[in-house]
Amino acid sequence: MFIGTPLITEEEIQRKVRELAQKISRDYDKKDLLAIGILKGSFMFFSDLIRHIKSPLRIDFIIASSYIKDTTSGEVKIHYFPKEELEGKDILLVDDIIDTGISLQYLRDKILEKKPSSLKICVLLDKKERRIVEVPVDYVGFSVPNKFIVGYGLDYQETFRNIPYLTIFKKEAK
Ligand code: IMP
Ligand code: MG
Repeated sequence: MFIGTPLITEEEIQRKVRELAQKISRDYDKKDLLAIGILKGSFMFFSDLIRHIKSPLRIDFIIASSYIKDTTSGEVKIHYFPKEELEGKDILLVDDIIDTGISLQYLRDKILEKKPSSLKICVLLDKKERRIVEVPVDYVGFSVPNKFIVGYGLDYQETFRNIPYLTIFKKEAK
């Protein structure tokens, strides 16, 4: 049905998600966690992750898009930002992948402006080779090669988000 053989299978993803959720549950024991998923890319990872976190939590979302004009500058646009008070909250920001780091750095700064009591970042995938700006990431699922990855929420031009595993996108597949 879908393109490509898995780079990371459904089973591997689910095992990792449970592992991350366990760590997060331990770290946020007795804290009021607000988990914020960055849409659209993190929708599948976010919903799998939070259902394995044992501590009580609330959720919200940021809807953002980034336009990379050249290799050194990216412009991030926020379409939705949590309406609730973020001051004094323990926030976990969840994204699908950190690539150049530009989006997460921008969104992290926007949240820090609201003076949360703590802010941690969780990403499923880390494409280290492509990093332009350093962003502190607290929870990482997998390190991935410098290839374009689709599936499990990640898209190529809004398609392929529904593939249940992670695979490398090849142009001829579309
Ligand atoms: P950034 O370059 O770290 O700012 O990444 C911005 C966004 O680009 C990520 O949140 C993803 O939505 C998207 N992105 C980066 N690399 C990939 C990829 O390999 N596949 C699909 N989306 C990607
Ligand atoms: Mg994204």
